[in-house]
Amino acid sequence: MSSFDQIVELIADDLSAIEVKLTEHTASEYSFVDMAVQHVVEGGGKRLRPILVVLSAKVCGYLTDNSRLSESIGRRVVDQGNDAHTLAAVVELIHVASLVHDDVLDEAAIRRGRETLQTKWGNKVAVLVGDYLHARVLSMLVSRRADDPAMAILADTTQAMCEGEVIHAYKSGDFDISEAEYLKIISFKTGKLIAASCTLGAHLGNPTDTQQVEALTIYGQHIGTAFQIVDDVLDFTEDADKLGKNTFGDLREGKLTFPIIYARTVCDDDEKQMLEKVLNPNTDEAEAITFVEALFQRYGVEAHCLKVAQDYADRAKAALTDLPEIPPRIALEQLADYVVSRES
Ligand code: FPP
Ligand code: MG
Repeated sequence: MSSFDQIVELIADDLSAIEVKLTEHTASEYSFVDMAVQHVVEGGGKRLRPILVVLSAKVCGYLTDNSRLSESIGRRVVDQGNDAHTLAAVVELIHVASLVHDDVLDEAAIRRGRETLQTKWGNKVAVLVGDYLHARVLSMLVSRRADDPAMAILADTTQAMCEGEVIHAYKSGDFDISEAEYLKIISFKTGKLIAASCTLGAHLGNPTDTQQVEALTIYGQHIGTAFQIVDDVLDFTEDADKLGKNTFGDLREGKLTFPIIYARTVCDDDEKQMLEKVLNPNTDEAEAITFVEALFQRYGVEAHCLKVAQDYADRAKAALTDLPEIPPRIALEQLADYVVSRES
């Protein structure tokens, strides 16, 4: 069994409860809305962010097993037990909503092995289903305690995700974007929600220990960066079926991502000129792919990017040093490595 499957098994009951919440909280009385929403909500993602909420909560001493809690501690904590699952569902819904909109921006045809919403029903439906999911998120959050930090954390997070995506789109024609600029963009568009998943879990477990909350937030930021770098690499290297989405999508879009930004810094002037040319969406696709694959091979681009991603994963693991060495912490450490070694 892979380490990821072991982690899933460790928290299988929590993940089942979260699936129920996802379906219940997104149901609509209109059967078309329900179908379109479930098409993306049930669409076979890894549930990385819910896993992070649950593990971060558990490593900070939070019990998510409702029946045990109801016997030992009483009703108030039972409600908190549901809280972990609700927050896990909330972050997944924000993620799904962002992907629905991202696929409109990227004109992507396939996601999680299924047709994207705009392919199936057009841009209007896709944009509105993303908005609908956000409305559900707001409704799930307003039912919570007034002093709960989740609302503020998630408001800041979604703002940062939007800023990251806007700047990435704005800079899409800028061939000279620096690695530092790009790393900041991905820390916003991807890192913030992954970090927030960890922060929210930590708050549930031990809200008064700011060091624990901080450690898990830093962990999340680093695996978020590692995750996006690997996402960028897989777009060039992985099999489309395994990935559940079309490959070379970034190249086709002329989107500058980590491997291209690195390749540009190591190749010679002629290659740099050619790279700029193949990133133009008007260039023949087969020609662009052949050139980029040979360039990546020549300069060891994949290995370099995976090494950078592993460095971030190692920094993430190092942030956990002061947390108790219990199974959820081991699982978080394994998850950091999985983010780099994953093939989809
Ligand atoms: C995938 O990036 C997209 C994101 C990580 C963030 C998307 C954020 C927005 C659309 C901003 C709006 C936010 C909300 C909450 C509605 P990618 O295109 O690099 O990855 P991919 O290959 O999986 O598509
Ligand atoms: Mg995309």
